[in-house]
Amino acid sequence: MVIGYSMADLSVELAGIRLKNPTILASGIMGSDKASLKKVADSGAGAVTIKSISKDPKSGHPNPTVVEVEGGFLNAIGYCNMGLENAKLEFAAVSSVGVPVIASIVAEDAEGFTYLAEEMSALEFSAIELALSCPHTPGLGLLAGQGTPEATFEITKRVCSKAKLPVIVKMSPNSLDLGEIAKSAVKAGAKALNMGNSLGPGMVIETKSGKPVLDFKVGGMSGPIVKPIAVRCVYDVYEATRGKVPVIGTGGVAKGLDAVEMIMAGASAVGIGTGVYYQGLNVFREVSREIEEFMKRRGVQKLRELVGVAHG
Ligand SMILES: Cc1cc2nc3c(=O)[nH]c(=O)nc-3n(C[C@H](O)[C@H](O)[C@H](O)COP(=O)(O)O)c2cc1C
Repeated sequence: MVIGYSMADLSVELAGIRLKNPTILASGIMGSDKASLKKVADSGAGAVTIKSISKDPKSGHPNPTVVEVEGGFLNAIGYCNMGLENAKLEFAAVSSVGVPVIASIVAEDAEGFTYLAEEMSALEFSAIELALSCPHTPGLGLLAGQGTPEATFEITKRVCSKAKLPVIVKMSPNSLDLGEIAKSAVKAGAKALNMGNSLGPGMVIETKSGKPVLDFKVGGMSGPIVKPIAVRCVYDVYEATRGKVPVIGTGGVAKGLDAVEMIMAGASAVGIGTGVYYQGLNVFREVSREIEEFMKRRGVQKLRELVGVAHG
């Protein structure tokens, strides 16, 4: 007997990886150790991303490194991370996390990225994400000139020639030529794009002392306040690449309808960072449940039917 009900299919194919749902833990949030990644996976995330790793350990900026603002956070962590050798130990047998794990890496130049990508390829990661887009760390990301179409092409091409895993390029909402950057990344071999990193830098001044709150003075903005910009960036990237590679929409997603908006703009999956602070680990299951409810209400059976519908 056939029972007449329809199921909403939330699964996503991304850079050759199958995700059971489109929610991905963004880099920098609970991604510094395998146990935390497992906790996030057990809480319903479709995939998880590790905190960006550099070749050598980095102590990052002194505290305070994060301050809450209306509608989000300003952070200047300064890529505090354990470095490659420790990461190899921490993330050994990382497939035990239970969902695909994406390795995020940062370096000063193409050679540094290529070295890290080759080393990370030896572990059980599902993909490698190149963070070319931090808006506020000297020597890395935008401040190292990595956010141009030319630099994106050069770094991505060199990494793709050596990495044995699919490469994701993480872009910046600060960039004005997103279409060109996205096309350069795809031409160089990227299998997906993450749009994107935090926005800024911004500054908060503590009026009693008259001094910036963050020790580093400025930081990148994240959370609901950046969502309209992130949605527009995803829209622009999708328009330029015409769906050639999947886009991960990151910036301010905390609810199912935020995710639906990102998907309608052209994202195939969504990154969630600051949403974890606001909603707790339940955010992944709740966002998935709310997307599923939306699909059922609209009679949408497969999530990919919604990808890019805002483009007409
Ligand atoms: C505390 C903090 C640390 C972050 N660290 C990284 C990082 O190491 N690498 C990276 O690519 N992005 C990092 N990000 C950026 C996030 O991955 C994400 O792109 C950004 O916060 C926007 O998404 P959201 O609004 O969901 O947080 C960090 C963000 C926050 C708030």
